[in-house]
Amino acid sequence: FQPQDLSGKSLVITAGPTQEAIDPVRYLSNHSSGKMGFALAQAASERGATVTLIAGPVNLATPAGVNRVDVVSASQMYEAALNSIAGCDVFIGTAAVADYRPSSAADQKIKKDGSGAERTITLIENPDILASIGHHENRPATVIGFAAETQKTEQYAADKLQRKNADAIVANDVSRSDIGFGAANNEVLWVSDQQSVPFGPASKRDVAHFILDQILNLGN
Ligand code: C5P
Repeated sequence: FQPQDLSGKSLVITAGPTQEAIDPVRYLSNHSSGKMGFALAQAASERGATVTLIAGPVNLATPAGVNRVDVVSASQMYEAALNSIAGCDVFIGTAAVADYRPSSAADQKIKKDGSGAERTITLIENPDILASIGHHENRPATVIGFAAETQKTEQYAADKLQRKNADAIVANDVSRSDIGFGAANNEVLWVSDQQSVPFGPASKRDVAHFILDQILNLGN
């Protein structure tokens, strides 16, 4: 049983990867499993919060009591996130949103022409969901982002904090196979304006409760 210290709070959490269509049968995506976001949604719900979980394509069960909104692409996730910020106290972006999408998705399956010539897919930038919410006129009191990095973790996290107008960035090193993407465990660095706090390695459930503790400590 958890203390009901998030009772009365409304959280919106994005989770998982996004898929960006190339044609009806192909897409660009990444290795995000969604586990960290789902663990956060479950932990927050257990602590009494009202939770909306905006999920990309993942193979995970919806935690009890959580309102789940399924999306596929970054554009859909952006729409769903903006539609849910009214009344939201805490926004947490754990999703590994694709930075780019094909400039257009072909209506029909793209066929190979057998010539051996190079083919090109033109990419355009997706909206940055976290930055849009961080700078929104209806910005939730607390906005938290994640940073999956392979180097200079703390420096990149501090950059993101400013650029996305977030209250904190939870950084982790995805170059390690024992933590991060797809793994059961995670080791993170909580980076806010005030302090950097390391946590783990620990289960994603324990990391989720650590993050919620830090959010409450912000006192927003
Ligand atoms: O800039 P970068 O992708 O490294 O930032 C990661 C953080 O920004 C994560 O919290 C992620 O959910 C969020 N993000 C987003 N929309 C994007 C790209 C990243 O919300 N298009």
